[in-house]
Amino acid sequence: SIDDELRWDGELTVARHDRETGTTFVIRIDSTRLGPASGGTRAAHYPSIGHALADAGKLAGAMTLKMAVSDLPMGGGKSVIALPAPRNRIDSATWSRILDIHAENIDKLEGNYWTGPDVNTNSSDMDQLSRTTKYVFGRSVDNGGAGSSAHATALGVFEAMKATARRRGLGTLDGRKVLVQGLGAVGGDVVRLAAQAGARLLVADTDPQRLEAASLAGHTIVPADEVLRTSCDLFAPCAMGGIIDSAAAASIPTLAVAGAANNILTDAAAGEVLRSRGVLCAPDFVANAGGAFHLVGREVLGWNEDDVVERTRGIGRTLDEVYSLSEERGITTEAAALLLARTRLSPASTTAAAT
Ligand code: NAI
Ligand code: PHE
Repeated sequence: SIDDELRWDGELTVARHDRETGTTFVIRIDSTRLGPASGGTRAAHYPSIGHALADAGKLAGAMTLKMAVSDLPMGGGKSVIALPAPRNRIDSATWSRILDIHAENIDKLEGNYWTGPDVNTNSSDMDQLSRTTKYVFGRSVDNGGAGSSAHATALGVFEAMKATARRRGLGTLDGRKVLVQGLGAVGGDVVRLAAQAGARLLVADTDPQRLEAASLAGHTIVPADEVLRTSCDLFAPCAMGGIIDSAAAASIPTLAVAGAANNILTDAAAGEVLRSRGVLCAPDFVANAGGAFHLVGREVLGWNEDDVVERTRGIGRTLDEVYSLSEERGITTEAAALLLARTRLSPASTTAAAT
């Protein structure tokens, strides 16, 4: 319920409803401990406002951890636009009004929250937001922004896949069966990089056009509802979060998990189950930080493209640190990554809890 969802440890929840379009806007600031909160704008059709609040809260928490573990001088936040219908059924005039209202909301936060692209928003949407508010990352390059973060995210996920396979005793990706769920902006690039490294690709998507392209490229199609029952060496979830709960963790026929989706595991218990079965799981807020390196690096820290690539390749090293800590302490990889992030968040912590 909304009551439950508002009992949250983050710093701020902002909500607004637009009667004309039937849209509800949510911005949640999890933490500004390390800098202004930042995290993308997700647009989706939710079953209830409670679900939208819950999603925004979990995603904002993941952003706090991502920034902290990646040593970026930002806090964590997220926007959720709860649409009156699925995104592909919203006409362009309605979408334009929705973006203008969202931009107004962001502007009222006066820089305590910086947005960027996420599922169902892209660089041209960021361009439109930037006409009303300056607190926007990821505008198109022609419009003075850093452009899409997907390529850097995919590069980081690829590094995470290699580091995870190595640590799990699989060696390199060459000849390994890699299952990629979601062939969008990030997943499509992950497939390309893994194929170049010699992996045998199994792919799943709900979009027939994307599947056709993958099939033409010689990859094996797996039906979207068979993903959690398909045997592979490494599973890369690059669609939506929340796909591995305890039941899935107990049965998923893979040796390792490393993907782009935020909040892959539904809860800590799912991580425990994976660990008990020896399935090595790359914490998503470490593995998918390439996009944050790209956006914050280029637009706040003055990095060039080479700096972004170098820092993104470092994701493999951060994961090695996470895996060693997890082995030393006998804890899940998720718990180990949380420890690393919290080490950075803890000194003189001011207001809210970090997670
Ligand atoms: P996208 O929207 O371009 O791609 C998502 C793909 O997943 C689409 O092709 C869609 O058809 C497919 N899909 C949706 N439901 C599916 C299902 N049940 N089974 C199989 N396929 C399904 O999104 P993008 O940008 O590639 O992001 C993917 C994930 O990575 C998201 O969870 C996002 O939050 C996360 N992420 C993205 C970053 C970025 O820089 N774009 C950065 C960090 C995380
Ligand atoms: N939405 C992406 C993520 O989850 C990219 C992003 C990073 C957007 C940082 C804004 C700020 O990482």
